[in-house]
Amino acid sequence: MPARPGERKPLISGNWKMHHTHLDAIAVVQKLAYSLLPADYERAEVSVHPAFTALRSVQTLLDADDVPIALGAQDVFYEDSGAFTGEVSPVMLAKLNVSYVIVGHSERRQHFGESDEVVNKKLLAVLRHKMRPILCVGETLDEREAGVTETKVLGQLEADLQGVSPEAMASLVIAYEPIWAIGTGRTASPADAEAVCKAVRTWLAEHYGAGVATGTRVQYGGSVTPDNIAELMAEDDIDGALVGGASLDAERFAQIARLGQPAK
Ligand code: 13P
Repeated sequence: MPARPGERKPLISGNWKMHHTHLDAIAVVQKLAYSLLPADYERAEVSVHPAFTALRSVQTLLDADDVPIALGAQDVFYEDSGAFTGEVSPVMLAKLNVSYVIVGHSERRQHFGESDEVVNKKLLAVLRHKMRPILCVGETLDEREAGVTETKVLGQLEADLQGVSPEAMASLVIAYEPIWAIGTGRTASPADAEAVCKAVRTWLAEHYGAGVATGTRVQYGGSVTPDNIAELMAEDDIDGALVGGASLDAERFAQIARLGQPAK
């Protein structure tokens, strides 16, 4: 597999959504740790994003065995502490050695009414606590069919990245997740996914300069499987994947983390 332009190391992230108890999560991470070998971690960085209830168990396991899988969260609140019943603060996540935090997932925007303003606050909170946001952007089927995909995605970038400095951009990951491809088995074609990821990079160059554009990883998400990861990764501007359903099973996720290469 050739090096990515700008030496961007692919990031393969498993978003487990509201699946897996802490016991299931431990079992999956144990199997993953057994399946993935040093050569696999050379090829791609891997993160898992369990539910909040499983974060501590997974952290303990990763730390105890020095497993080079990064711990991720699926969401966060933007205040450090206070009377916000049910919320989890960035301080709490940072204390668990969480490296990556997904912000602005379309399911949060759709089911929990998260506006770009809220997403922006969450993203800034993640950065403030030295964790790395994975910012999700993407269009609905109606928007795609109306030909406004780029307008939607670039508009989300504009709104969600308010107040983010070029220096802070070094820790940011962007995930392009077309909403119509999430959980539907209908993956974007590699060419369609590449077109939007490339548009994201062009936007980054215009707003943050060529260095940030070349260095920022842009993942694709939406029905990624062991069967389609290699063709997606063959595109120049796709630097990994944010995987839902296929990340729940250790063996399937390990195959994706190997970027479709055979296990050694
Ligand atoms: P699926 O891989 O299940 O389509 O989910 C994608 C996703 O939403 C990851 O965040």
